[in-house]
Amino acid sequence: MVLSKGLVQTKIPLAKPVFDEEMKNAAIDALQNERFVMGESVSKFEEEFARYCGTKYAVSTSSGTFALQFSLIALGVNRGDHVVTTPYSFVATANAALHVGAVPVFADVDIRTCNIDPELAKEKITSKTRAVIPVHLYGFPADMKSIEDIFGDKGCVVVEDACQAHGAEYCGQKVGALGDVGCFSFYSSKNMTVCGDGGMVVTNDEDIASKVVKLRDCGRASHCEHDSIGFTARLNTVNAAIGRVQLKRLDEWNEKRRACAKLYDEFLNDLDELLLPPTGSFDIKPVYHLYVIRTSLRDKLKVWLEQRGIQCGVHYPLPIHLQPIYRKLFAYKGGEFPKSELLSKTALSLPMYPELRKDEIKYTCQSIHDFFDQI
Ligand SMILES: Cc1ncc(COP(=O)(O)O)c(C=O)c1O
Repeated sequence: MVLSKGLVQTKIPLAKPVFDEEMKNAAIDALQNERFVMGESVSKFEEEFARYCGTKYAVSTSSGTFALQFSLIALGVNRGDHVVTTPYSFVATANAALHVGAVPVFADVDIRTCNIDPELAKEKITSKTRAVIPVHLYGFPADMKSIEDIFGDKGCVVVEDACQAHGAEYCGQKVGALGDVGCFSFYSSKNMTVCGDGGMVVTNDEDIASKVVKLRDCGRASHCEHDSIGFTARLNTVNAAIGRVQLKRLDEWNEKRRACAKLYDEFLNDLDELLLPPTGSFDIKPVYHLYVIRTSLRDKLKVWLEQRGIQCGVHYPLPIHLQPIYRKLFAYKGGEFPKSELLSKTALSLPMYPELRKDEIKYTCQSIHDFFDQI
């Protein structure tokens, strides 16, 4: 429906965060009966999240960004060290390296998966390289075996950025549990949220877990003693209480996302003008945080769909190295990472959330067919 010139009512949103009665009750209960900060819900959420990922420890933080930053500090990444990562991600991935005084060194992506290309990453290793941050972009697991082989051999640590991939699986393990450390975000658009900001570090290493516990809580060694320089970056009790309810639903929600992706694949695979997201396999189970198609007519298609009430997104219109601050700090000019730059011009995120209906997917796909029929 066109509301007024240029304004169209959204019929199908890009994402639909869930906040229902059970979450509301859990939030009220936590607010009324627990400490606002570091209440019982926080430790319960951590225990449950660790169990879900199959790791020994999970430590919550106030964001995914802090989860990444604290992981690097806990793993001993220092000023001047190099951290290899992808330029095609949310900016926070690379910022984590800068926050600890390290240098983010980009390696271009595999154009098919949109994840870091291990062979290109290998070329970036020098004597200064201390860590690699693969990102499971859009919920599709990165090539962890190659990354572990290449970087493990060189004595580097692996920090998984699983901020978009809660519950995705790689060779029978949950992502986040594959590297030295895994980091998650619970920002409101993610596959599971805490209805606010939040993050989590998962690991099997007790020393790393206890360092992150201190870092997120002012460097506290005991109630009144602080033996390291920490931050105030705890997850609020009320958010942890909501997270516990959402975690119980995660597998069911991810299954529904996979079913939606399958329908999109089915309705779009006859269009030669489009590239569809990679599908999973026995070993790789993506969770479709986003369903991202690619076309050189991306911008026109986006306008066409939005005129029909279908909200779309672009993840990401600028690769990290071309963000103004990275151009300024590192003198990137464009052309350095051609695959990421191509993706930033061609990727289009279609509506994706567990309650997305078949008729809505059909309508979106029909609208895409109509677009290509009229050009
Ligand atoms: C790939 C990736 N890394 C890191 C982050 C940072 O998480 P947060 O927004 O919780 O700080 C996000 C989330 O937005 C993300 O998508």
